[in-house]
Formats: sequence, C-alpha cells, structure tokens
Amino acid sequence: MPNFVHKPVMMAEVLAAMRPKTAGRYADGTVGGAGHAAAILAASSPTGWLFGCDRDGAAVEAARTRLTEFAGRFEIRRGNFAELADWVQAGSCDAVLLDLGVSSAQLDRPERGFSFQQDGPLDMRMDERQLQTAADLVNTASADELARVFWELGDERDSRRFAKAIVHDREKHPFRTTRQLAELIERLSPRAGRRTHPATKVFQALRLAVNDEISSLKRGLVAALMILKPGGRLVVITFHSLEDRVVKDFGRARARDYTFTGGVDVPELREPRTPELRWVTRKAIKPGAVELAENPRSRSAQLRVLEKI
Ligand SMILES: C[S@@+](CC[C@H](N)C(=O)[O-])C[C@H]1O[C@@H](n2cnc3c(N)ncnc32)[C@H](O)[C@@H]1O
Repeated sequence: MPNFVHKPVMMAEVLAAMRPKTAGRYADGTVGGAGHAAAILAASSPTGWLFGCDRDGAAVEAARTRLTEFAGRFEIRRGNFAELADWVQAGSCDAVLLDLGVSSAQLDRPERGFSFQQDGPLDMRMDERQLQTAADLVNTASADELARVFWELGDERDSRRFAKAIVHDREKHPFRTTRQLAELIERLSPRAGRRTHPATKVFQALRLAVNDEISSLKRGLVAALMILKPGGRLVVITFHSLEDRVVKDFGRARARDYTFTGGVDVPELREPRTPELRWVTRKAIKPGAVELAENPRSRSAQLRVLEKI
C-alpha cells in the first residue's frame, strides 16, 4: 500500500532499548507501517524473528508489503495487542514494542474520521470490523455518559457543556461528520488566542472510547509481560498523559514488593509477591531536538522501558 505514510518516532531510542540481535525474537504490537518492525528485522539479521500485529487492516497489509525483503522471518496478524499472548508463546520474546495511538496514515485519511482538520465520516474505528463508530457513540450516549468520556478520557474542562449541546443538537441533526462535531465545539468555545484546536480533547476522548484504548493498553501490558523472556524488555511509547500513567502504574505495581505492611489494606497488595519487572530508565525518554524539528508529531512522545526479571 504505497500511500501508507508514517514516520516512526524515536527510532534510535527504540533500537537501543530493544537491543535487536541475530536470532533474537521480537514482538511489535502496533506494527503500523512497519517502520520500527523493518529496523528491528534489519538489526537482527539474518535470523531474528518478529511477531507483529495491528488492529487496522490497511496497516497489516502495508506492513506485510513493507517487510517482503524479510520474508520467512516474521508473522503478522490483524488483531488487538491485548491478545498477543493468545498466539505468541509465553516467555519467548527478547523485547516487545508498543508504539501507541494512531498512525499518520490513519490521521491523514479523512475517510477514517480521526481528524477535526479535514471533513469525513465521524468514524474513528482502528479496526473497521468493529460495529460501533464515533457517530454511534455521539448519537446514542446520554449526556452524562458523553460528559464522563470527555472528562475522563480528554481531561476536557467543558465536558458537561459540550455533552449537553451535543444531545440538544442531535435531536434535529444526528452527527455524521467530523466537521459537524468540530464546528459545534468551535462555536461553543471560540478559538481566539488558543494554540490547539478547541475540539482536540473531545476528539481524543472519543477515539479512546470508540477503540477502548485504555483497557486494551492495560491488557496489552500484561500480555507483553507474559510473552517476554526473563531479561526481556518491554518498550512503550505513549502520546498523552493518560496512557503514560497506565504504563507508570503498571511498572510501579510490578516493580516493587507487594508485602502488606499495614496502613490501608488494599486486597490486591495483601499477598507477598516478588517484583516481576525493573525499570531500565527512571524517567521517560523524550525525542531529541533534531527529531522534534523534523517530525512535529513526535512532540508528545514519551518512551518507557521495563525489563522482566
Ligand atoms: C503510532 S502507530 C505505530 C507505527 C509503527 N510503529 C511504525 O513504525 O509504522 C500506532 C498503530 O497502532 C495500532 N494500534 C493502536 N492500538 C492498538 C491495539 N490495541 N492493538 C493493535 N494495534 C493497535 C494503530 O492501528 C496504529 O496502526
């Protein structure tokens, strides 16, 4: 698929964290246009192996095409990375990559409905086999439910006002396009003086809700840990604070000892457990100045690296 364009972020940092080597086994849960995957396969030549998946059928097709030069050294399936452990053997991988969010190929295609910059159907499904679209959610959820989505997944301060206006407007004109929704939010919250578009948070929240991204991420981290070998690395790139918090909480909970020593009795913490992970870097790694200048979409990327004990 020649028009699948996505510039992989933090390539050097990803390779340094994953340490691809000959005969190593790797998994890329967000294979996208296979930019990272191709680099991992090249660096693990001639016998390194890659398991890849993506929820997006167009991405899977693009990845298979991009990786033809590595034929016989990878298996790519369409699916959610939350299910990686269903088909990749437990304890088999040297490193797993999750490069979260959407690709430029998804964002830049108006017909996918992710962008408020261009008009298209209000869709936002990463996996087009899924039934519920963003339009379905916007046209059927209660005002309370929409406000909760905008607040919890978008950190949108005007969540209630926006939700009420949507419920009011959809009586006459159900929402069908990205422009319709973006224009309503713009009307309610004029742009003057703002750096970001007023609909940014609402669109982010809807995308996360439609694709159930936070729950997928929580399950995906557990699956990644299962398929890693001891000493294997889990490398995660997040693009907003909500995702990053999930990764940090996962790492914190599993990187320390669980012995209950009094204080608030959290049942999950009662059982003594030995740590399963260690942080490779204490702080998140961010893109360097050169990458930021070359690829503005990398500006919110943060990379975290954990190692299975
Ligand atoms: C930022 S892009 C990855 C780009 C890729 N690293 C590359 O080099 O081209 C994110 C990709 O992850 C996919 N994705 C997001 N959440 C997913 C999930 N839970 N399971 C599988 N794929 C997912 C999206 O469809 C998208 O193609």
